[in-house]
Amino acid sequence: MAFLEVSNITRRFGGLVALNAVSFDVEKGEILGIIGPNGAGKTTLFGVISGFIPPSSGNVVYDGESIIGVSPDRLVRRGLMRSFQIVQSFADMTALDVVTTAALTRRPMREAIDYAAQALLRVGLGGKEHKTPATLSLQDKKLLELAKCIATDPRCILLDEVMAGLTMAETAAPIAIIEELNKQGVTIVMVEHVMPVIMRLAQRMVVINFGEKIAQGTPDEILKDQRVVDAYFGDHLDA
Ligand SMILES: Nc1ncnc2c1ncn2[C@@H]1O[C@H](COP(=O)(O)OP(=O)(O)OP(=O)(O)O)[C@@H](O)[C@H]1O
Ligand SMILES: [Mg+2]
Repeated sequence: MAFLEVSNITRRFGGLVALNAVSFDVEKGEILGIIGPNGAGKTTLFGVISGFIPPSSGNVVYDGESIIGVSPDRLVRRGLMRSFQIVQSFADMTALDVVTTAALTRRPMREAIDYAAQALLRVGLGGKEHKTPATLSLQDKKLLELAKCIATDPRCILLDEVMAGLTMAETAAPIAIIEELNKQGVTIVMVEHVMPVIMRLAQRMVVINFGEKIAQGTPDEILKDQRVVDAYFGDHLDA
């Protein structure tokens, strides 16, 4: 049995079928990449897996149990954590407050603050603890999303475009953090448009187009798949 099993997930928004019977497995310890054009349904898929969006039908099994209907908070306590594509910030909260809130899902307050500070150090945001997220650069906002994930002691993280908008040089830090987390045994599912990055990090890829899975395989297999080239790579190979 795989660590995460997505089976026949369909999600409709009114008349729009954002996800249509999408199925795939994620093995413990792997890095799975998910790609697909804008509007393909990738963020909706993460919303479903992480408990934010109920599916119209289908099932998700995490660590041997169905998690449909389980709240995001409870899933985080079970080690399933997601990042947000649109970096969320709350007025008046500092970076340390934001990461402490994440750490509090798993730890009492006195430990959570220290743990959050360590997570910020680990992503290279030491010294920026007291800034508000709105004043951080895009790269630092993305690193803050990673710190939030780290602070929850995840076993599996869903990363939604943590490289988007960064220069290739700026991607080095998040790449190193993701590789290190994975080495420590964290299973990673990542949506990314930055092709050289996802091709390098992912051991396996799933391709979604108009809400449907159109291909899966190793990065090499995906590059050679004509359906994928037609649906996606025309625009993104040299991104
Ligand atoms: N809450 C919602 N209500 C109505 N439609 C929605 C909602 N969320 C997403 N959609 C629609 O579902 C489709 C899939 O959106 P989604 O954000 O999952 O795509 P995506 O693959 O993450 O795109 P991108 O690469 O631009 O981030 C889009 O057509 C989007 O407009
Ligand atoms: Mg998205």
